[in-house]
Amino acid sequence: MKEEILKLLRGTQGYVSGQEICSRLGVSRTAVWKAINQLKEDGYQIDAVQNRGYRLNLNQMPDVLSTAELASRMQTEWAGRRVYYEKTVDSTNNWAKRLADGAGDLPHGALAVAEQQTAGKGRRGRQWDSPAGQAVFMSLILKPDMLPASASMLTLVAALAVNRGILKACGLPTLIKWPNDIVANGKKVCGILTEMSTELDYINYVVAGIGINVNNRQFPPDLADKASSLLLETGREHNRASLICAVMEAFEGLYGELIKTGDLSRLRDEYNQSMVNLDRQVRVLSPGREFEGTARGITAGGELMVEREDGTAALISSGEVSVRGIYGYV
Ligand code: BTN
Repeated sequence: MKEEILKLLRGTQGYVSGQEICSRLGVSRTAVWKAINQLKEDGYQIDAVQNRGYRLNLNQMPDVLSTAELASRMQTEWAGRRVYYEKTVDSTNNWAKRLADGAGDLPHGALAVAEQQTAGKGRRGRQWDSPAGQAVFMSLILKPDMLPASASMLTLVAALAVNRGILKACGLPTLIKWPNDIVANGKKVCGILTEMSTELDYINYVVAGIGINVNNRQFPPDLADKASSLLLETGREHNRASLICAVMEAFEGLYGELIKTGDLSRLRDEYNQSMVNLDRQVRVLSPGREFEGTARGITAGGELMVEREDGTAALISSGEVSVRGIYGYV
């Protein structure tokens, strides 16, 4: 009900009468009044004027990530259409896996969002710094009809979606460090951790976990030289719900392109143009093998093409490989 009222108020310039809300939602005046009070407690500024009704102050929207806030803003068909929200979880990826493993048929595109993670996970077993109220921690549950070997392409699609979403919602152009770090002015503002549950030749589900540093003002000393936030890079705060919705919209469109061909051929140009390390010297660090070369973009399968000094090319798949700039992180 809070979601429906928010949607109604958000879509109306001016006042909506209590009577109209009651008849549109088929509920009593007392129920509307209670829901409006709850919304006010959540931080929404709602003017109530006798004989006119209720008006939401759209210029003073709180930075909340409730199910009602996200669901009332979401314009997509399936990505993020079903939202689960908790204030604190261990890791949204773990939670998303529990949801997907649990009873009931979770829809493709369900999204798990939390305000804070107590055990946020990064790639290669690292931790992900997850302070409350400043960042986005979300995990998108996908049920793609593709072979497990192709699933790494979804991570690249997620990176493109975040790149587009940040530009749309925050006006900040960012770049992608293959395969899936999002970088602003040489510092990481987003990381993506994709996990999946598979049978031998069948994907049960994929969880694409996305962590975006949005309004973080500082980072632990060991991260300070390579991590940043959208606030630090733009000098202003950003609304996290609008960013999440922009990323979901972008993801839905990009995923549609992936499905058309079963690979990244339709997204490759955009990906390569967004790559921070395109035509730059990189060091490839894979277990037992380390070499330098020039990054030449991705293949339709999402591998990174690296040209060695002797002119031969190597195709690098994500997974356990790490690619660094030769002078530092990018
Ligand atoms: C990386 O190492 O760059 C990947 C970081 C991924 C962090 C996100 S935050 C939401 C989701 N839940 C997790 O525990 N990790 C991912």
